[in-house]
Amino acid sequence: MRHPLVMGNWKLNGNKQMVSDLISGLNGALQGVDGCGVAIAPPVMYLEQAREALANSPIALGAQNVDVNLSGAFTGEVSAEMLKDVGAQYIIIGHSERRTYHHESDALIAQKFAVLKQAGLVPVLCIGETEAENEAGETEAVCARQIDAVLNTQGAAAFNGVVIAYEPVWAIGTGKSATPAQAQAVHKFIRDHIAKQDAQVAAQVIIQYGGSVNDKNAAELFAQPDIDGALVGGASLKADAFAVIVKAAAAAKQG
Ligand code: 13P
Repeated sequence: MRHPLVMGNWKLNGNKQMVSDLISGLNGALQGVDGCGVAIAPPVMYLEQAREALANSPIALGAQNVDVNLSGAFTGEVSAEMLKDVGAQYIIIGHSERRTYHHESDALIAQKFAVLKQAGLVPVLCIGETEAENEAGETEAVCARQIDAVLNTQGAAAFNGVVIAYEPVWAIGTGKSATPAQAQAVHKFIRDHIAKQDAQVAAQVIIQYGGSVNDKNAAELFAQPDIDGALVGGASLKADAFAVIVKAAAAAKQG
């Protein structure tokens, strides 16, 4: 049985006070919630502070990026071992903001995927089409290409225990979420695509939806059979809204 995972991607937001306030708000609001994994990915600067604030909390720690190198002369980078050392477990890779602003290729992202697996960390592999690709009917081709970068180099088994986040770029930060039916169709396509190589691996892989998920639209998205939680940007910065989203995921999979 797959469990949903709701993860907050804080992006480039926060300071020490905000980290402290938001985590204490989440620890309070999420007490007793069962049946849904929860993780937060603060800026790397605040991982240590977040880890301390999450002691005795069921909320897991994540990060927003990783370098492909393990150590050495790579100024400004952070390695998988460093993330592991500070207790981060779920590591976002291939986010569209990194694909766009840092020109990360499918091949580089696949390398990051391999490095995380090697370190025993969980890749949260973001994929998704742009608005132009969507309008050109290329959604499935783009998602397949982004998945194939890992599938064709590391095999289907590499997707055991990992998380995929389908984030249509046109839905990120726009307030214009994909409809539940639109998202479900793509999630099913992604699962079927992996199932062509290994049905068991496909059945267990968590496929999150991301893109303007909020406390109002979460429940109907999570009612879809192939949507296993969400990767949440803006709404993850508010403890109350994020808690509503987590509870919606927990409730959907129990009902
Ligand atoms: P929003 O929830 O702000 O649209 O961001 C989604 C996202 O990019 C999560 O990684």
